[in-house]
Amino acid sequence: MRRARATDAATWWSLQRGIYDEGAWFVGDGPPSEGSLAARLRSLDQTRSGVWFAVVGDQVAGWCEASRLAAVRLDHVAVLTLAVAAPYRRRGCGEALLVTAEEWARQVGVRKLSLSVRGGNEAAKALYERSAFVLEGVERDHIRTGATFEDNLIMAKYLVDDA
Ligand SMILES: CC(C)(COP(=O)(O)OP(=O)(O)OC[C@H]1O[C@@H](n2cnc3c(N)ncnc32)[C@H](O)[C@@H]1OP(=O)(O)O)[C@@H](O)C(=O)NCCC(=O)NCCS
Repeated sequence: MRRARATDAATWWSLQRGIYDEGAWFVGDGPPSEGSLAARLRSLDQTRSGVWFAVVGDQVAGWCEASRLAAVRLDHVAVLTLAVAAPYRRRGCGEALLVTAEEWARQVGVRKLSLSVRGGNEAAKALYERSAFVLEGVERDHIRTGATFEDNLIMAKYLVDDA
């Protein structure tokens, strides 16, 4: 596991491209441009957000991004995005990325991790449930998948006992 560096934009873009090309996990139309990823990496304030890569051998296998929300009333919450490239799945990368993001979140005083996951994404749901995320809400038929619709699930993990 390592922090992403300012020079990692191409690597990050290519990982994202692979996930978007699978067509089943993310809801956006495609990855952000390499330029915008580079700008994000250059301007990372480690107290506000983090990007980490899971590394297998000499290959970057997956990433996790955590960002605290900007508004003062919301900045105890960090939103997570996570993905592992298909050839590297089921080797513990996803879980290790979550652990890394959670360590950072605790260090910077984040109280709650939040994420969205498609209702049909059984692998991600299993990972999050095993990592003590709980279902907070269901946005019914929120995502169009061809002729049908899919729920968006909002899940969260509370990092403090009194939450
Ligand atoms: C979801 C995802 C990140 C999991 O990453 P991963 O590296 O394969 O996960 P891990 O190897 O750390 O798995 C940890 C545990 O999660 C659960 N899990 C992971 N994949 C699973 C699957 N396909 N089916 C059932 N359980 C699964 C298991 O409990 C697993 O432990 P085990 O292998 O000892 O049984 C990965 O499948 C992925 O990137 N998918 C595409 C992108 C995506 O869905 N991102 C999340 C969007 S919300």
